[in-house]
Amino acid sequence: MKRWLLLLIPFLISFAFYQPLWGQDEEEYPEEPIIFTKPVKAVVFDHKKHIEDAGLSCDDCHDELFEMAAGTAEENEDFNMEALYNGKYCGACHNGEMAFASNRKCTTCHIGVLGWQRMQGTPKKGKHH
Ligand code: HEC
Ligand code: HEC
Ligand code: HEC
Repeated sequence: MKRWLLLLIPFLISFAFYQPLWGQDEEEYPEEPIIFTKPVKAVVFDHKKHIEDAGLSCDDCHDELFEMAAGTAEENEDFNMEALYNGKYCGACHNGEMAFASNRKCTTCHIGVLGWQRMQGTPKKGKHH
């Protein structure tokens, strides 16, 4: 019994320190890309690419540009290219300064119907982009 407890101590200690630090700066974000299907099928948004590759933090998007609930933006009438060109939603950054402009590289965001079908079929996303 004592031995068992001793073995457990390092785990408990590292847990006690690790958990609060983790909770403070990096909350959990969805691992799988979010796919928008309205009004057009389909647009891909990948948290991982924005957070780990581009180095953004939650505050850069939540909750001013986007709610932390998939499907919210899609309910808005103005979730379209015009809004993006006017600096709303993705267009707040995809303006040619902070990130590639919304009127360029259409297919980087738009994966189309085929891309959408492919993503439904594959549980783990491939790293092709
Ligand atoms: C570059 C912008 C951006 C950043 C940075 C970002 N998010 Fe998001 N997040 C989104 C978008 C877009 C959605 C989908 C919102 C919608 O559909 O209306 C979303 C949705 C979510 C959701 C809901 C998922 C679901 O299935 O309902 C959670 C949880 C979330 N984000 C957590 C985070 C956390 C935690 C961070 C920081 C580590 C973060 N996000 C950083 C853009 C971002
Ligand atoms: C807070 C700023 C910000 C917002 C908001 C944002 N992005 Fe990005 N995005 C970036 C940055 C920075 C990059 C990386 C630099 C680049 O590619 O120009 C990036 C890259 C991307 C990429 C390329 C990823 C890759 O490497 O394959 C896609 C696709 C993308 N964003 C889609 C979206 C979509 C769709 C939305 C809205 C739902 C969105 N982004 C909202 C900042 C943002
Ligand atoms: C930064 C990501 C991004 C880029 C780049 C982008 N789009 Fe979009 N697009 C979106 C999002 C987000 C929506 C709304 C969600 C949906 O329809 O699935 C959308 C919606 C649309 C729509 C339907 C709504 C509307 O405005 O009529 C069309 C058409 C469209 N895009 C065409 C284009 C074309 C053409 C290009 C290139 C010139 C382009 N998009 C580039 C993200 C992007």
